[in-house]
Amino acid sequence: MDTRTTIDTFIGYYRERGHHRLTGSSLLPPPGDPVLFTTSGMHPLTPYLEGRPHPGGRRLVNLQRCLRTTDLDEVGDDTHLTVFEMLGSWSLGDYDGPTSLRWGHDLLVDGFGVDPGRLHVTVFGGDDRVGPDHESLETWSELGLPVEETREDNWWSNGPTGPCGPDSEIFYWTGDTPPEGTPTGDPRWVEVWNHVMMRYHRHPDGSLEPLVQRNVDTGMGLERMVTVLQGRSSVFDSDGFEPWRRTVPGLWGLDGEPLRIVCDHLRSGIVVVGDGIGPSNTGQGYVLRRLLRRVLTRLWRGGESPTLSDLPGELIGHTLDHFGQSVGVHRVREVFGDEERRFRDLLRRGRPLVRRQSSRGPLGEEDYRYLHDTHGLPRELVTGLLSEG
Ligand code: SER
Repeated sequence: MDTRTTIDTFIGYYRERGHHRLTGSSLLPPPGDPVLFTTSGMHPLTPYLEGRPHPGGRRLVNLQRCLRTTDLDEVGDDTHLTVFEMLGSWSLGDYDGPTSLRWGHDLLVDGFGVDPGRLHVTVFGGDDRVGPDHESLETWSELGLPVEETREDNWWSNGPTGPCGPDSEIFYWTGDTPPEGTPTGDPRWVEVWNHVMMRYHRHPDGSLEPLVQRNVDTGMGLERMVTVLQGRSSVFDSDGFEPWRRTVPGLWGLDGEPLRIVCDHLRSGIVVVGDGIGPSNTGQGYVLRRLLRRVLTRLWRGGESPTLSDLPGELIGHTLDHFGQSVGVHRVREVFGDEERRFRDLLRRGRPLVRRQSSRGPLGEEDYRYLHDTHGLPRELVTGLLSEG
């Protein structure tokens, strides 16, 4: 099952059950939102989960692109990406949690053909404020899936305040041996779908207030699900990365983790530029700058000859097309090229300065401040230059 079929199967399943298809929003949250990027499919729906009527009704389905900087250091493993897509379904005060879990099980097993013997779920076991999620526990045991109960791991919120609630996560066994252990104890259990019983609003003082309606918010990581359905062990081996696997290793002689990081960050960089962001020293633009500089730092480990202008237009076009972005390939090239030039200049200016400063002994806070405030060299860059020796 390829990426397109996976999306169509998911959307089709929920449309048959009366869900209105939304058009995925960009990575940029609406003005006034405190976060830099959309981090989850529910994010653009926050006001509707809190009670505002949605023009599409009370049942919604969507594919939403997301960016999580919190996962930046995990990228390079089998399952994490900075930009990923989330398939999601929502009941805005309509059907209940057990219905969502039953449909979820049905879609996985009958719609996607997943072997139920490779599934395990986790459920909120209760804490000092909210009791165990009995409904979900009962539903899963009726469906015959093994359940693990947790506390913190099964409470979902999109930030320190706002809608939140107990969740039920579905894991798929990726090991070569028969399933063993439980999701919290064995990383071969990979989370593929989360069903959140979004029933509370968390206030700044941490107190919980029941929402005016009982919602269900589900999110399935598209690239992970496709990886499972294609019997691959890593998201980088799924069909969406085929053009990357075909071109990037020959271009810059990379493999293993550095190859994965470079592909992920460039793909994310393209999508961020596609959503209208350019590099800068703050906010969203700084995230883009970090992504591109992390790529260049890796590419230049053996000398500064690799350049982002080598990146085939096909890869940029493939990514923009997949994410439905109207920005032209030339615009991405222009942004990447400018950023590369700036970074080269910065390194050229920075190297002798850092060398001089460090020849007097290990750098202290004052040295970092001087290099940053007087010469515009961020700490991350200085530590990078120091590690060059
Ligand atoms: N909001 C939940 C998540 O992102 C489910 O959609 O996992």
